[in-house]
Amino acid sequence: MIGRVIFIESINKFSFLVSEDSRQMVFENCYVVSPDPSGRQFHVLSQIESLDEISTPDVEGTQIKANCRILGNYDSSGKQKPLTRPIAYGSSVSLANPQFLRNLFHSPPPSISLGKPLGNPDVPLSVALDDFQRTATLITGTTGSGKTKAVSLILNQFIQQNGACVVFDFNKEYSALVPEEKINLMTPGETFFIGMDDQFIEVFSKELTDHEVDQLYHIYSLYGPDLSSMFRAFESVTVDKMRVRAYKSLERKLRTLSSRRLLATKEKPYEPIVRENKCTIVDLSELELKYQPLFINYLLKLIHSQRKKDIIPATFVIIEEADRFLNTREVPISIIKEIVLQGPKIKINVCLITQRPRFCDEIVLSNCRLQIFHTTRNPLDIETLSRVSQYLDSYYISKIPYLTKGQALISGPNVVFPIFVNIVSEF
Ligand SMILES: Nc1ncnc2c1ncn2[C@@H]1O[C@H](COP(=O)(O)OP(=O)(O)OP(=O)(O)O)[C@@H](O)[C@H]1O
Ligand SMILES: [Mg+2]
Repeated sequence: MIGRVIFIESINKFSFLVSEDSRQMVFENCYVVSPDPSGRQFHVLSQIESLDEISTPDVEGTQIKANCRILGNYDSSGKQKPLTRPIAYGSSVSLANPQFLRNLFHSPPPSISLGKPLGNPDVPLSVALDDFQRTATLITGTTGSGKTKAVSLILNQFIQQNGACVVFDFNKEYSALVPEEKINLMTPGETFFIGMDDQFIEVFSKELTDHEVDQLYHIYSLYGPDLSSMFRAFESVTVDKMRVRAYKSLERKLRTLSSRRLLATKEKPYEPIVRENKCTIVDLSELELKYQPLFINYLLKLIHSQRKKDIIPATFVIIEEADRFLNTREVPISIIKEIVLQGPKIKINVCLITQRPRFCDEIVLSNCRLQIFHTTRNPLDIETLSRVSQYLDSYYISKIPYLTKGQALISGPNVVFPIFVNIVSEF
């Protein structure tokens, strides 16, 4: 025992007085238990929110008061039961048993470790691999808060367990974060070309006028997928005057993509975009900004269709700077939304990383059920986080600005309750 309850603030908040000989054992975030007032097998699990030094007239020197928040009422196997009566004055408080915490935080392999809880650094927080594959992930935080570091630790564990990853890398930073032998580098215009296929026609159509789309389908049906034949057709086919402008502008757009060496000139043989045990890094650092959405859109459609046919393994797709592609004021990439919503069924975990959640489609964000929030101070971003999270009440939200680099608040359907963690390289 480390103390007794001396004050009850509300149904889920109380304080206890730390006994003299236990002062060294308590710290902020530390997990403590008290007996369930209504049953023997259950324990009321709480977390110390803050520690105050107090002095009372009848005791010499100062004493420590620990202010706690009740997290739930659990039995030793981790089963939860509602707390039917408030915790009682004078109840004993003990440190939570590490095995008890392990049952709550830890999923046995195959699993993905996410970090070490601040209140219990001995047991990593982990989620079962199967659950991880069936969710979408959101990682937010201000610049330098640790988003890329966090995702790199997850992706390496995922590859180790035979998963496949795809990273859209805008800053050439991922090659240094994944072991060389695991990398499959894909560079648009150098090692990868967009095939003139149905996926391309679909994504390219979004950038065209209705007349251009008509012409595109026409010429594709006659001469595709061979690009040179299509270009020859532009020179020889006669079209009525009405359509000539659309025809010319379509030709110009296709020729621009071709001159950037983005398009494959011949029909492409089937190639899987992702491979088991490998991380495909799509290096977009040299690609002009305006072509990046087209490229991402095309690849995501391919991954989606290959995964639906089950010809590629469960895939973890990392999209950095996600606010650029989910911005509701511009044209968001709709396949991202589609995959996030269908992800649980088709085992594509799309991980959206953003510094600016305030610009993103909130339906997409709220369907990313595993949420890893690093620090941010922007009030608009914080408001967005509170709207898109299903698990965080105002207490948790209020702590986000005070997290330090490498710390995060993690919540989700497979995380027992929101947990503050340190993201660490070794578990
Ligand atoms: N958990 C951590 N442990 C140790 N160092 C960390 C941790 N998280 C981040 N860092 C360090 O902090 C720096 C910034 O981290 P990182 O690149 O992950 O930030 P970021 O949130 O992705 O930033 P940006 O938005 O600019 O991309 C890096 O040098 C990284 O090594
Ligand atoms: Mg980063």
